[in-house]
Amino acid sequence: MAEIKLAENSGFCFGVRRAIEITEATAEKYRGSRPVFTCGPLIHNRLVTEELEQKGVQILRKEEEAGKEDVVIIRSHGEGRSFYERAEEIGFQLVDATCPFVAKIHNLVREAYDAGEKIIIVGDRLHPEVRGINGWCQNSACIINSVGEADKLEPADYFVVAQTTIQQSHFEEIISKLQEKKCRLQISNTICNATKSRQESCKSLAREVDLMLVIGDKESSNSQKLYDLSKKYCEKAYFIENIEDLPLKDIELCNKIGVAAGASTPERLIKEVIANMSEFITENNEENLMHDLMDE
Ligand code: F3S
Repeated sequence: MAEIKLAENSGFCFGVRRAIEITEATAEKYRGSRPVFTCGPLIHNRLVTEELEQKGVQILRKEEEAGKEDVVIIRSHGEGRSFYERAEEIGFQLVDATCPFVAKIHNLVREAYDAGEKIIIVGDRLHPEVRGINGWCQNSACIINSVGEADKLEPADYFVVAQTTIQQSHFEEIISKLQEKKCRLQISNTICNATKSRQESCKSLAREVDLMLVIGDKESSNSQKLYDLSKKYCEKAYFIENIEDLPLKDIELCNKIGVAAGASTPERLIKEVIANMSEFITENNEENLMHDLMDE
């Protein structure tokens, strides 16, 4: 019978868990008295954001929409300096659920910028975390997400940080290119340990299984990266959001199935996928056994 193995370090990371707890406590505190918003979806997982909505937490699409009476929660990705200034100006109440590891990058970038250094952020310029980090150096950072982009940079002195969820090897490739171009770098490798450990576990599991499933929301960048890694090390890799996406035909043909989940994937979703798959494998096994017995 096929074996299912879950990658170590799967599911919610410390920062995401903390942001959810802060949000739930805030919703409870202000229930019926003040509107509570998160500044964008709290995490990239629809299941979680829908549940929070049921608890009265709404999503603020633009900061201009926030009024004096509102309570606005900053999610784990963090925000730029101007968001805090705007909260003071308008007078809405801020609850800060920025992951402490992201807040540390804000401080590093603010200090380097104040000291007159040029900043490089290695990461995706459209990701809210990167936009937030850039907001601590007056949006002046060079944002690089490929070796090609690194190649176009003028040689100079730079202070370098990384988006917390990028791949270590991707960061190293970009750093090597910058060094090759004779850029003088002061590097702060700010890739989060939770990211590193999830990627390492996913990689070693993908190497040993016939089929790899990554559970996560399609919008989740860290889940997407686990999928990219899985594809690299396992011929059959799938990115699924829930049980409806299970590739049952392929599962039927495999002996060893690996499961990994991004830092924004709730544990109950992981359990649901594994339970569903185990049930399918058992039923399928019994059916095959029956066929064999009838053939004899
Ligand atoms: Fe924080 Fe790392 Fe998670 S930066 S939000 S603990 S991936």
